[in-house]
Amino acid sequence: MAVLVTGGAGYIGSHTAVVLHEAGRDVVVLDDLSNSSPAAVDALRALTRPDLPFVEADAADVDAVGRAIADHGVDEVVHFAAFKSVSGSIADPDGYHRNNVGSTVGVVEAMRHNGVSRMVFSSSCTVYGEPTDLPVTEDSPISASNPYGATKVACEELLAAEAEAGGLDVLLLRYFNPVGAHASGDLGEDPRGTPDNLVPYLMQVAVGRRESLSVFGDDYDTPDGSAIRDYIHVVDLAEGHLAALDALAADRGSRGCTAVNLGTGTGYSVLDVLAAAGRVIGRPVPHQVVGRRDGDIQRIWADPSLAADLLGWRAGRGLDEMLADHWRWQQRHPDGYAAT
Ligand code: UD1
Repeated sequence: MAVLVTGGAGYIGSHTAVVLHEAGRDVVVLDDLSNSSPAAVDALRALTRPDLPFVEADAADVDAVGRAIADHGVDEVVHFAAFKSVSGSIADPDGYHRNNVGSTVGVVEAMRHNGVSRMVFSSSCTVYGEPTDLPVTEDSPISASNPYGATKVACEELLAAEAEAGGLDVLLLRYFNPVGAHASGDLGEDPRGTPDNLVPYLMQVAVGRRESLSVFGDDYDTPDGSAIRDYIHVVDLAEGHLAALDALAADRGSRGCTAVNLGTGTGYSVLDVLAAAGRVIGRPVPHQVVGRRDGDIQRIWADPSLAADLLGWRAGRGLDEMLADHWRWQQRHPDGYAAT
């Protein structure tokens, strides 16, 4: 039996594939490489096994996903394949909807045709919008604040309805802000073009690819005025997927559709992250404060207690370890996978 990882050449997908392989699962990766690189597949194979099955296909392609399931005896699926840029989704809302919701429809159909019922879905804390009460629990109100968030809400609703109709047991994992890299420094985040996210941008400044980080706003209602997020090590997140698959396989109260936060429970401001990065890297990271970024929220962090209760999972790695691992990857691969 095997686990299909759609989007397995991407940042979180590739780290999850490694963790699942190390736990003894037979992993099959499916990815259309639209926002990832063949070199990521090579890196994944170097860390797992040289013949790790890789299917180059769009997750919306029901026949291709169905063949991958049938050919490899897949009995569980982790579905990551999606676009994830907030600004990209504002520029191209229908493209984001087609890709993110379309791939989820494709995977669900292919699972149904092949009698596969267990799915772990890659969701996001973006479904909470700007929360009024903190920390956010899984019962906090849902409200998308951008088209990317709307695709995650739509996928969650679709999966909940499929589970309700029977035939699907799904855990919706709502990630907070993943950062860091595999401890080897050979698997990491390699955004195309200008990075949208804080830590990839900061690391490209530190390694000399960019001049200075723009801090988006210092006039928020937070202790230092910069916005607060719950940063989580990507390997902790990957381990959360393993725990979720184990919970589904053992049917530990996970029948139907259940949403689970994967965060640390601790919020750090942008200026906290900059200070920690300066410590880890050994010198300050050039930056300047600019205005707020459109669509940004002020503060969010998780109540991660359901993950502990239901999955027996807790994030174990702190901010300095996340940044040290991200920095190792960035130093070993200053130009990302392109240069490997
Ligand atoms: C956003 C999404 C999240 C999604 C993630 C993936 C929302 C509210 N959040 O996270 O769901 O999973 O993207 O791409 O939709 N910052 C700077 N300078 C920069 C970049 C970022 O100051 O150059 C600040 C931002 O203003 C924010 C923090 O750093 O306060 C984190 O930003 P980022 O890494 O982009 O993640 P989110 O916007 O939180």
